[in-house]
Amino acid sequence: MKLKLRIWRQKNAQSPGALVEYPLDDVSPDSSFLEMLDLLNEQLLARGDEPIAFDHDCREGICGMCSLVIDGVAHGPQRATTTCQLHMRHYKDGDTITIEPFRARAFPLLKDLVVDRGAFDRIMSAGGFVSVNTGGAQDANAILIGKGEADLAMDAAACIGCGACVAACPNAAAMLFVSAKVGQFAHLPQGQPERQRRVLGMVRQMDQEGFGNCRNYYECEAVCPKQISVRFIAEMNRDWRRAAACHHEAAGSAGAG
Ligand code: SF4
Ligand code: FES
Repeated sequence: MKLKLRIWRQKNAQSPGALVEYPLDDVSPDSSFLEMLDLLNEQLLARGDEPIAFDHDCREGICGMCSLVIDGVAHGPQRATTTCQLHMRHYKDGDTITIEPFRARAFPLLKDLVVDRGAFDRIMSAGGFVSVNTGGAQDANAILIGKGEADLAMDAAACIGCGACVAACPNAAAMLFVSAKVGQFAHLPQGQPERQRRVLGMVRQMDQEGFGNCRNYYECEAVCPKQISVRFIAEMNRDWRRAAACHHEAAGSAGAG
Protein backbone atom coordinates (compact mmCIF):
# COMPACT_ATOMS: atom_id res chain seq x y z
CA MET A 1 0.00 0.00 0.00
CA LYS A 2 0.90 3.66 -0.41
CA LEU A 3 1.21 5.93 2.58
CA LYS A 4 1.90 9.57 3.27
CA LEU A 5 4.07 9.94 6.39
CA ARG A 6 4.44 13.18 8.33
CA ILE A 7 7.45 12.70 10.58
CA TRP A 8 9.00 15.01 13.20
CA ARG A 9 12.57 15.84 12.18
CA GLN A 10 14.87 17.66 14.57
CA LYS A 11 18.65 17.66 14.41
CA ASN A 12 19.13 18.07 18.17
CA ALA A 13 17.53 19.67 21.20
CA GLN A 14 18.85 23.11 20.26
CA SER A 15 17.63 23.14 16.64
CA PRO A 16 14.03 23.86 15.69
CA GLY A 17 12.02 20.82 14.59
CA ALA A 18 9.27 20.39 12.02
CA LEU A 19 7.00 17.77 10.50
CA VAL A 20 8.39 16.59 7.15
CA GLU A 21 6.30 14.71 4.60
CA TYR A 22 7.50 11.46 3.03
CA PRO A 23 5.52 9.42 0.51
CA LEU A 24 6.15 5.66 0.93
CA ASP A 25 5.07 2.99 -1.57
CA ASP A 26 4.99 -0.81 -1.43
CA VAL A 27 4.35 -1.09 2.29
CA SER A 28 3.36 -4.66 3.14
CA PRO A 29 0.32 -4.97 5.43
CA ASP A 30 2.26 -7.77 7.14
CA SER A 31 5.11 -5.47 8.14
CA SER A 32 5.31 -3.94 11.59
CA PHE A 33 5.21 -0.19 12.11
CA LEU A 34 8.97 -0.15 12.77
CA GLU A 35 9.64 -2.28 9.67
CA MET A 36 7.70 0.32 7.71
CA LEU A 37 10.07 2.99 9.12
CA ASP A 38 13.03 0.72 8.25
CA LEU A 39 11.79 0.67 4.65
CA LEU A 40 11.66 4.46 4.58
CA ASN A 41 15.15 4.71 6.12
CA GLU A 42 16.56 2.33 3.49
CA GLN A 43 15.18 4.63 0.80
CA LEU A 44 16.55 7.74 2.55
CA LEU A 45 19.99 6.14 2.86
CA ALA A 46 19.93 5.01 -0.79
CA ARG A 47 19.50 8.61 -1.92
CA GLY A 48 22.08 9.94 0.53
CA ASP A 49 19.63 11.52 2.98
CA GLU A 50 19.83 11.38 6.75
CA PRO A 51 17.78 8.43 8.09
CA ILE A 52 15.11 9.03 10.73
CA ALA A 53 16.33 8.37 14.27
CA PHE A 54 13.90 6.31 16.35
CA ASP A 55 14.30 4.08 19.40
CA HIS A 56 13.78 0.31 19.39
CA ASP A 57 15.42 -2.81 20.74
CA CYS A 58 13.49 -6.06 21.29
CA ARG A 59 10.67 -5.40 18.79
CA GLU A 60 8.70 -7.95 20.82
CA GLY A 61 6.83 -5.65 23.21
CA ILE A 62 9.05 -6.35 26.21
CA CYS A 63 11.91 -3.83 26.41
CA GLY A 64 10.00 -0.54 26.43
CA MET A 65 12.37 1.20 24.01
CA CYS A 66 9.97 2.00 21.18
CA SER A 67 8.40 5.36 21.85
CA LEU A 68 6.39 7.03 19.13
CA VAL A 69 3.31 9.19 19.24
CA ILE A 70 1.30 8.03 16.22
CA ASP A 71 -1.55 10.25 15.08
CA GLY A 72 -1.56 11.88 18.50
CA VAL A 73 -1.61 8.66 20.54
CA ALA A 74 1.40 7.24 22.39
CA HIS A 75 2.10 3.81 20.81
CA GLY A 76 -0.63 4.39 18.22
CA PRO A 77 -4.21 3.31 17.71
CA GLN A 78 -4.19 -0.31 18.95
CA ARG A 79 -4.96 -0.66 22.66
CA ALA A 80 -2.50 -2.59 24.82
CA THR A 81 0.05 -2.64 21.98
CA THR A 82 3.57 -1.23 21.82
CA THR A 83 4.66 0.61 18.69
CA CYS A 84 6.86 -2.35 17.71
CA GLN A 85 3.89 -4.73 17.90
CA LEU A 86 1.63 -2.48 15.83
CA HIS A 87 1.21 -3.83 12.28
CA MET A 88 0.46 -2.04 9.05
CA ARG A 89 -2.64 -4.17 8.40
CA HIS A 90 -4.42 -1.70 10.70
CA TYR A 91 -3.93 1.00 8.07
CA LYS A 92 -5.46 1.52 4.62
CA ASP A 93 -3.93 2.31 1.27
CA GLY A 94 -3.62 6.09 0.96
CA ASP A 95 -3.57 6.80 4.70
CA THR A 96 -1.64 9.74 6.11
CA ILE A 97 0.19 8.95 9.36
CA THR A 98 1.71 11.58 11.65
CA ILE A 99 4.65 10.38 13.77
CA GLU A 100 6.07 12.42 16.63
CA PRO A 101 8.33 11.81 19.66
CA PHE A 102 7.13 11.39 23.25
CA ARG A 103 6.88 14.97 24.48
CA ALA A 104 7.56 15.81 28.14
CA ARG A 105 9.91 18.22 29.91
CA ALA A 106 11.49 15.32 31.80
CA PHE A 107 12.13 13.46 28.50
CA PRO A 108 14.41 15.88 26.59
CA LEU A 109 14.54 15.31 22.85
CA LEU A 110 17.84 13.97 21.51
CA LYS A 111 17.15 13.67 17.78
CA ASP A 112 14.08 13.26 15.52
CA LEU A 113 11.90 10.73 17.36
CA VAL A 114 14.41 9.82 20.12
CA VAL A 115 14.03 11.21 23.62
CA ASP A 116 16.14 10.70 26.73
CA ARG A 117 14.18 8.62 29.27
CA GLY A 118 17.09 8.51 31.73
CA ALA A 119 14.80 10.09 34.34
CA PHE A 120 13.12 6.68 34.69
CA ASP A 121 16.50 5.04 35.40
CA ARG A 122 17.25 7.61 38.09
CA ILE A 123 13.85 6.98 39.70
CA MET A 124 14.60 3.25 39.72
CA SER A 125 18.02 3.92 41.29
CA ALA A 126 16.27 5.87 44.05
CA GLY A 127 14.53 2.77 45.40
CA GLY A 128 13.10 0.50 42.69
CA PHE A 129 14.88 -2.61 43.93
CA VAL A 130 15.11 -5.03 46.85
CA SER A 131 18.48 -4.82 48.57
CA VAL A 132 17.80 -7.09 51.56
CA ASN A 133 19.03 -10.67 51.28
CA THR A 134 16.03 -12.67 50.05
CA GLY A 135 17.93 -15.96 49.52
CA GLY A 136 17.85 -18.09 46.38
CA ALA A 137 14.95 -19.11 44.18
CA GLN A 138 14.06 -22.03 46.45
CA ASP A 139 13.76 -19.62 49.41
CA ALA A 140 11.39 -17.40 47.47
CA ASN A 141 9.28 -20.42 46.59
CA ALA A 142 9.17 -21.46 50.24
CA ILE A 143 7.29 -18.27 51.18
CA LEU A 144 3.63 -18.81 50.46
CA ILE A 145 1.92 -15.80 48.85
CA GLY A 146 -1.82 -15.55 48.32
CA LYS A 147 -2.96 -15.81 44.69
CA GLY A 148 -4.56 -12.35 44.76
CA GLU A 149 -1.38 -10.67 46.03
CA ALA A 150 0.83 -12.62 43.63
CA ASP A 151 -1.40 -11.63 40.71
CA LEU A 152 -1.26 -7.94 41.69
CA ALA A 153 2.53 -8.06 41.99
CA MET A 154 2.76 -9.65 38.55
CA ASP A 155 0.33 -7.12 37.05
CA ALA A 156 2.51 -4.26 38.34
CA ALA A 157 5.71 -5.98 37.23
CA ALA A 158 4.40 -6.06 33.66
CA CYS A 159 5.40 -2.37 33.30
CA ILE A 160 8.14 -2.15 30.67
CA GLY A 161 9.15 1.42 31.48
CA CYS A 162 8.27 2.77 28.05
CA GLY A 163 7.06 6.20 29.21
CA ALA A 164 3.86 6.26 27.16
CA CYS A 165 1.97 7.12 30.35
CA VAL A 166 4.04 10.30 30.66
CA ALA A 167 3.63 11.19 26.98
CA ALA A 168 -0.16 10.78 27.19
CA CYS A 169 -0.69 12.72 30.42
CA PRO A 170 -1.62 16.41 29.96
CA ASN A 171 0.61 17.10 33.00
CA ALA A 172 3.38 14.70 31.87
CA ALA A 173 3.03 12.89 35.20
CA ALA A 174 4.98 9.69 35.80
CA MET A 175 2.68 8.33 38.50
CA LEU A 176 1.57 5.21 36.61
CA PHE A 177 5.16 4.13 35.98
CA VAL A 178 6.38 4.89 39.50
CA SER A 179 3.34 3.29 41.13
CA ALA A 180 3.83 0.10 39.10
CA LYS A 181 7.47 -0.08 40.16
CA VAL A 182 6.48 0.54 43.80
CA GLY A 183 3.49 -1.80 43.59
CA GLN A 184 5.38 -4.80 42.25
CA PHE A 185 7.20 -4.99 45.62
CA ALA A 186 4.44 -3.68 47.89
CA HIS A 187 2.44 -6.86 47.22
CA LEU A 188 5.29 -9.24 48.07
CA PRO A 189 6.79 -10.10 51.47
CA GLN A 190 10.28 -9.47 50.07
CA GLY A 191 9.31 -5.84 49.44
CA GLN A 192 8.21 -5.06 52.99
CA PRO A 193 11.50 -4.23 54.81
CA GLU A 194 12.25 -1.30 52.46
CA ARG A 195 8.67 -0.38 51.61
CA GLN A 196 8.65 3.09 53.15
CA ARG A 197 12.16 4.04 52.09
CA ARG A 198 11.36 2.88 48.53
CA VAL A 199 8.20 4.94 48.03
CA LEU A 200 9.70 8.06 49.60
CA GLY A 201 12.89 7.84 47.55
CA MET A 202 11.19 7.14 44.23
CA VAL A 203 8.55 9.85 44.61
CA ARG A 204 11.19 12.37 45.70
CA GLN A 205 13.27 11.58 42.61
CA MET A 206 10.18 11.73 40.38
CA ASP A 207 9.47 15.26 41.62
CA GLN A 208 13.10 16.30 41.13
CA GLU A 209 13.03 15.10 37.51
CA GLY A 210 10.32 17.60 36.64
CA PHE A 211 7.36 15.30 35.96
CA GLY A 212 3.96 16.91 36.52
CA ASN A 213 1.39 16.06 39.16
CA CYS A 214 -1.32 13.45 38.68
CA ARG A 215 -4.76 14.99 38.20
CA ASN A 216 -6.71 11.80 37.52
CA TYR A 217 -7.09 12.20 33.74
CA TYR A 218 -6.51 8.43 33.31
CA GLU A 219 -4.88 9.02 29.92
CA CYS A 220 -1.92 7.00 31.22
CA GLU A 221 -4.01 3.87 31.74
CA ALA A 222 -5.66 4.31 28.33
CA VAL A 223 -2.37 4.17 26.41
CA CYS A 224 -0.39 1.78 28.61
CA PRO A 225 0.65 -1.16 26.41
CA LYS A 226 0.75 -3.41 29.49
CA GLN A 227 -2.62 -2.25 30.84
CA ILE A 228 -1.22 -1.14 34.17
CA SER A 229 -4.16 -0.07 36.32
CA VAL A 230 -4.47 3.33 38.01
CA ARG A 231 -5.30 1.38 41.17
CA PHE A 232 -1.52 1.25 41.72
CA ILE A 233 -1.45 5.08 41.85
CA ALA A 234 -4.06 5.04 44.62
CA GLU A 235 -2.08 2.36 46.45
CA MET A 236 1.14 4.33 46.10
CA ASN A 237 -0.53 7.49 47.42
CA ARG A 238 -1.64 5.56 50.52
CA ASP A 239 1.85 4.09 50.96
CA TRP A 240 3.48 7.48 50.50
CA ARG A 241 1.20 9.20 53.04
CA ARG A 242 1.89 6.49 55.63
CA ALA A 243 5.66 6.65 55.00
CA ALA A 244 5.71 10.48 54.95
CA ALA A 245 3.87 10.62 58.26
CA CYS A 246 6.46 8.27 59.78
CA HIS A 247 9.41 10.14 58.30
CA HIS A 248 8.02 13.74 58.46
CA GLU A 249 8.38 14.10 54.66
CA ALA A 250 7.01 17.33 53.12
CA ALA A 251 4.05 16.88 50.75
CA GLY A 252 5.09 16.03 47.16
CA SER A 253 3.27 14.82 44.07
CA ALA A 254 2.01 11.62 45.63
CA GLY A 255 0.63 13.46 48.62
CA ALA A 256 -1.13 15.93 46.34
CA GLY A 257 -2.88 13.30 44.20
S1 SF4 B 1 3.00 2.15 33.23
FE1 SF4 B 1 2.57 1.40 31.13
S2 SF4 B 1 2.84 3.21 29.82
FE2 SF4 B 1 3.85 3.66 31.78
S3 SF4 B 1 5.99 3.06 31.55
FE3 SF4 B 1 4.90 1.27 32.41
S4 SF4 B 1 4.29 0.05 30.61
FE4 SF4 B 1 4.83 2.08 29.82
S1 FES C 1 11.11 -2.32 20.82
FE1 FES C 1 11.02 -3.38 22.76
S2 FES C 1 8.99 -2.95 23.46
FE2 FES C 1 9.04 -2.08 21.46
